[in-house]
Amino acid sequence: MTQSQQYAISQYPDVDDIYRRLDALVRQPMRRVRDEKMQEYLAYFDTKCTRSKKLTDEAKRFIPGGVQHNLAFNHPFPIAIEKAEGAYLWDADGNQYIDFLQAGAPIVLGNNYAPVRQKVIELLQTCGPVTGLFHEYELKLAELVNRFMPAVEMFRMLGSGTESVMAAIRGARVFTGKKKIIKVGGAYHGWSDSMVYGMHIPGTGRMEAKGIPAGASANTQEFYPNNLGALKRKLIFNRLNGGTAAVIVEPVGPESGTRPVPFEFNRKVRQLCDEFGALLIFDEVVTGFRLGMGGAQGYFDIKPDLTIFGKCITGGYPMAGGIGGRAEVMKCFAAGIGGGTGERAYIGGTLSANPLSCVAGYYALLEMERTNAPVIAGQAGDRLTRGLQDIIAHRKLPYVVYNQGSIIHLETSGVMLLDFKNPIRLFKEMKPRKNMIEEMGAAYMANGLITLAGSRMYTSMADTDAVIDDALSRFDNVLSNVEG
Ligand SMILES: Cc1ncc(COP(=O)(O)O)c(C=O)c1O
Repeated sequence: MTQSQQYAISQYPDVDDIYRRLDALVRQPMRRVRDEKMQEYLAYFDTKCTRSKKLTDEAKRFIPGGVQHNLAFNHPFPIAIEKAEGAYLWDADGNQYIDFLQAGAPIVLGNNYAPVRQKVIELLQTCGPVTGLFHEYELKLAELVNRFMPAVEMFRMLGSGTESVMAAIRGARVFTGKKKIIKVGGAYHGWSDSMVYGMHIPGTGRMEAKGIPAGASANTQEFYPNNLGALKRKLIFNRLNGGTAAVIVEPVGPESGTRPVPFEFNRKVRQLCDEFGALLIFDEVVTGFRLGMGGAQGYFDIKPDLTIFGKCITGGYPMAGGIGGRAEVMKCFAAGIGGGTGERAYIGGTLSANPLSCVAGYYALLEMERTNAPVIAGQAGDRLTRGLQDIIAHRKLPYVVYNQGSIIHLETSGVMLLDFKNPIRLFKEMKPRKNMIEEMGAAYMANGLITLAGSRMYTSMADTDAVIDDALSRFDNVLSNVEG
């Protein structure tokens, strides 16, 4: 890897080979951690995490389920975190963990990075977190995003990725005068009414849409991951049925590349969007700045019409959302009393674009550029992936590991790869395979490793070779105790 490397992905993964191995993984029986060892791992929580248990048990009286974050680990019970620094987290009982959750991806500089924290404190001392009026850091952040991603000619901050996707859909409809929105089956674009559709598992349509009227997603469609023929058929069909306002994709594939895309996929989607007059929306909530300062759009060299931001846009600080893109589309989001001219797509938020979020985002992005954090985090991801691949080969396990820079996938049960192509297997195996990754996640945690749902990891600049090598020996510990 050279000094001039700009993007976190050092080598694009061999997507066909990954699918072959994932397919083989879900065709064979699960290889779980041996029962007696699993009991030992679970005992860790009962003996070493007593304060976490007490706190989260009490929380159940006042907070539904006792936890508020969808990525919090519930098995065997949630852990309360008290301290975060660099590559590590410490729980309420003082146990230390290597943090590969990274809050679900916003952190590329490492936890609680001091230079950004300092800038946030300085701002709070002068202006406080919010005034409801314009602050210079809004301009600074918008200009900076435009420097990194020239396709983002204009930019607006919002409260979350979910809100920003809602805005993009609305703006795309206003701009094109068309109705339908096409997404990739299995992709997560937040929890708005129209996007709780084909979520997590391709082909599931409204399966998760409890409490959402059918009309809310009547103009949402999904196509099977990577099936460009199916996308084209939908675009053709929609021509006579209200037209397609936009196609929205996660550029590395749904669920942060859990089903990775072939390298040329995004370019072909761009061409189809142009052919059918639909806008292309890149959901860069995860990839935005994590893959490099130019985002996935820079890496793949594609110009989306609209880009969704979240997570990294505030460097892990609150109100992480934003939408940007072509000026002529973005103009429909003009705000302020009397600010809108022409057709307006109504969006807003009391705390949106507050000075705290903007200063945090501005300095986090500048620091990421200065330190080359996305590339360093990507190199940590490469080292972790290679090490895990060696362990898996050495122990003759069927598991599949691959990465797109600092996004690492460790598939042990393959649950995320089940779908309606094989409905019998889906219904029979979804629960046990889901249970298995929960067990794996708990086993990793008992060995001092925090992952995302036991199957995904994000690395940061704080993950030095020593941290990764330590993590690998902990993973080896768990993987040496898998059923033969
Ligand atoms: C690709 C993608 N889009 C949108 C969202 C929603 O963002 P938020 O959680 O900020 O609402 C997420 C969240 O994980 C995401 O991964």
